Amino acid sequence: ESSVAASQETFAIRGDIVWSRHASNLQWAKDGYLVVVDGVCKGVFQELPAEYEGIDVRDRTGRLVIPGMTDIHVHAPQYAFRGLGMDLELLEWLNTHTFPEEKKYADLSYADRAYSIFADDMLHSPTTRAVVFGTLHVEPTELLMDKLEATGLKTFVGKVNMDRNSPDYLCEKDAQASLADTVRWLDEVESKGYVNTKPILTPRFTPTCTDELMEGLGRLKQERGLPLQSHLSENLSEIDWVHGLAPWSSCYGQTYEHAGQMDGEGHVVMAHCNYSTDEEIAIMKKHGVFVATCPQSNMQLSSGIAPIRRYLVEGMNVGLGTDVAGGASLSMFRAVADLVGCSKLRWRLVDQNLKPLSTAEAFYVATVGGGSFFGKVGSFEEGYEADILVLDDSQIRTTLECDPSERVERYMYLAEEGGRMVEKYVAGRLVVRDDRLVGSKAPA
Ligand code: GUN
Ligand code: FE
Repeated sequence: ESSVAASQETFAIRGDIVWSRHASNLQWAKDGYLVVVDGVCKGVFQELPAEYEGIDVRDRTGRLVIPGMTDIHVHAPQYAFRGLGMDLELLEWLNTHTFPEEKKYADLSYADRAYSIFADDMLHSPTTRAVVFGTLHVEPTELLMDKLEATGLKTFVGKVNMDRNSPDYLCEKDAQASLADTVRWLDEVESKGYVNTKPILTPRFTPTCTDELMEGLGRLKQERGLPLQSHLSENLSEIDWVHGLAPWSSCYGQTYEHAGQMDGEGHVVMAHCNYSTDEEIAIMKKHGVFVATCPQSNMQLSSGIAPIRRYLVEGMNVGLGTDVAGGASLSMFRAVADLVGCSKLRWRLVDQNLKPLSTAEAFYVATVGGGSFFGKVGSFEEGYEADILVLDDSQIRTTLECDPSERVERYMYLAEEGGRMVEKYVAGRLVVRDDRLVGSKAPA
C-alpha cells in the first residue's frame, strides 16, 4: 500500500469505456484510455494524449470500464435478514423483522460479526459510495464506521434517532437522551479522523421521532452544517399515521422542513418519495433534497411505484438505493434493472403521461444522480473523482456483436449470470483487484 504524498499519481486504464455525460444516452470508447491524475478524471481519449506519454497504462483491453455506483440508501444492520420476511408491508415488517434484528446490535460482538460481513460484501459489490443507516446505538455505529473506513469505500453513516412509537427494547429514553447520544457520537467520530467515512444525521422517520427530537436535530444540522437522511412518503399507512401525528402539517415532507431539517449546508436525502404531493415536491425542490428511489424495496414491501420520470423532468436530485433489507439485493446493477422495470409498470398501470426510463437513464441515476451527493462523482468527464469498475463480461455469452454501451446494458440485467469484477477504484485508489482476471485476456 503506497501513500501518494505531494507527488501526483497519474495512470490510465485502457479498455472499453462507458459512462454518462447526460441522462439520455451512454458515451463509450472502444479501446479507449481513461486518464486519472491525483484521483480525478482527466477525460476519456481514443489515443493517449502526448502529454501523458510514458505514464502507467493499465491494459484492460476487452474489459468494460464504467463509473462506480452510489447506493444512496441502505441499512447496514438489516443485511443479515435480507431475503427473509418479504410477505409483509412496511409497518408490520418493521415490528416483526426489523426492530428485533436491530436490537441485537446493542451487543458489540454481534455487531462486529454482522458488520464485518456487510462491509466485506459492500467492498466486493458494484458500489463505490453509499449513504448508510446504522442503529440507534453509538459504539456499534462507530464500529460500522471503522469497518467501512477500512474498505476504502466513501460513505456517509448515520446513528439512528428514534424516541417514540418504537418497542421498549429499541427506543431512546427521550429527546434529550437521543440528542446527547448524537452529540457524543459526532464528537467521537470527529476525533477518529476518518478519511472516507462521514457522519449524517438520521431521524428514522417522523413516526418514531418526537417534535422535540426533530427540532433538536434540525438545530444540530444547522449548527454543524451536517447532512441528514430519513424516509418520506414510502407507504400509504405510514403517510396516514404522519397526518394523525402532525395534523398541522400540509404534507409529510413539511414535518422535516418545519423542524429545520432541510436548512443549512449539508445535503438532505429522503428515501422513497413514492406518494409525494405537489406541495411536498415543491418543498423538496426548494431545498435541493435528494430523492433516494428504492425500486426493489418498493416491490418487496408492496409500497408503491415512485414517479421518477416526473422528478427528473422537474430537475430534482435523484439517486438510486437498494434499501437493504426492504430490498434483498445489495447489487446496484440489479437496482438499475428494477428501476427501469418499475418505471414501465408505472407507465402502464398508473400514468401514461410519464414514459418509462431507459437503461441509460437508470444508469445515470445510479452513477451521476446519487454520486452528486458526494460532489463531482459518477462520470468520467473531466473533473470527476475517479470511481471506476473494471468488469469482465466474457462469461455472459452471446453470438451478437455488441458495442460497449450494449454490453453494459446487458451487464445490468445479467451480471449475476457470469459477470465478474476485475478491479474497483474509489477516487483513483484501488480497493479491489481479482488477480486471476488482471491481464488483457479473459481466462477461459
Ligand atoms: N421507515 C422507517 N424505518 C424504515 C426502514 O428501516 N426501512 C424502510 N424501508 N422504511 C423505513
Ligand atoms: Fe430504508
